[in-house]
Amino acid sequence: MRKQKIGIAIFGLGTVGSGVINLINKQRASIKLRTGIDLQVKTVCAKSKRKKRPFNLSSFNWVDDPISFTKDKEIDVIVELVGGEKGISRRVIEEGIKQGKHIVTANKALLANFGENLAKLAEEYEVSLRYEAAVAGGIPIIKVLTESLISNKLTSIYGVINGTCNYILTKMETEGRDYNDVFSEAKRLGYVEADPELDIGGIDSAHKISILSSLAFGTKLDYRNVSTKGIKSVSLEDIREASKMGFKIKLLARAEYKKGVLEQEVAPCLVKKNTPIAQVQGSTNIVVLEGEDIGETVFSGPGAGMGPTASAVVSDLISIALGDKVPTLLNSIRSSKRSQKGVNEKESSFYVRFQLRDRSGVIALLSSKLSSQKISISQMKQKEPSKGKATLIMTTHKTLQENLSKALHQIKKSKICFGEPVSIRIQEI
Ligand code: HSE
Repeated sequence: MRKQKIGIAIFGLGTVGSGVINLINKQRASIKLRTGIDLQVKTVCAKSKRKKRPFNLSSFNWVDDPISFTKDKEIDVIVELVGGEKGISRRVIEEGIKQGKHIVTANKALLANFGENLAKLAEEYEVSLRYEAAVAGGIPIIKVLTESLISNKLTSIYGVINGTCNYILTKMETEGRDYNDVFSEAKRLGYVEADPELDIGGIDSAHKISILSSLAFGTKLDYRNVSTKGIKSVSLEDIREASKMGFKIKLLARAEYKKGVLEQEVAPCLVKKNTPIAQVQGSTNIVVLEGEDIGETVFSGPGAGMGPTASAVVSDLISIALGDKVPTLLNSIRSSKRSQKGVNEKESSFYVRFQLRDRSGVIALLSSKLSSQKISISQMKQKEPSKGKATLIMTTHKTLQENLSKALHQIKKSKICFGEPVSIRIQEI
């Protein structure tokens, strides 16, 4: 589409939707001057008409049923900002595409689960479906992967792409507060998704890395094969002990495509303090791409919030108006490249924490279980026991995740420890 005037309908007027309206109000003249495109928000729809909003609702047509957007001849692009993979969002997008409307969305869950079907539909009806705001908020990483670095053979992509978890881990580290305390604060500040499990369970990061890896490697979008672990088991003690050893703990999302196999993982990891990943504070996101020709490139910026997410949405609107021809998921919908769950085939070092019974022979038994899986200890420290319990912290030499899991299972079975041992990969990046 190359059109001067673009009629826009917005579905969802929460933080992001309001941000889009405010940004267009503020920059409309400047955008017109620089691109020749006049962005005209015509119609809006949200759950409640009465809610107080930071703009004048009466400047727009209000509709109660967002499906009516799809039949409105004045609308060129539908912006879906309600979210969620189930329910009305998907219907609005699918119906909109079938009626020839271009789509802009920030709906990572929908894309991760049904992106392939939606991409095929958009192709069939010759419309654009853009989603810059779905991953890493203000960082234009979708454009980087689909346009700027398209000539490169990318081999690895990793980053911190959930601002809420990074906020929680950063606050625990810098303010010495425990997980529950910081989680409640993040909730109060409105950072946490309506279903908190999406953030802290690593699911939001898994949605995002599956989208990025499909674009980066041309593999099928395969969210279900992302090995996913969240941050709930990470304690203040782990953060402090990791710090003493020169590491920070980050919820790392990672995908690698090697020898025809795609591995995708989201898990808390120890990363060296001097790496770019370790420097990322608060709700900031970072994405690192490695490619054969480009080498390593690092992108960091605000991963969420009104302004950054609105900026991504508006940039998609302008791309569409300027005649965007980039296929939704490039050609990965036709790909036959395999993906594989987990990262068990590569050796890593691990940080492990146990709460042991304070009695004779416990360490001997523990080390025999480790040795039965050929796991060698690199560093080990026991804290002063109290009330019959002793915390033991160790790092291992390189081993397979599978071997460590077997050893930890046996240690737990032998009843020498309380609760679950905590193990966190030491990620070399
Ligand atoms: N819950 C997401 C995050 C919002 O914390 O990063 C942005 O996608």
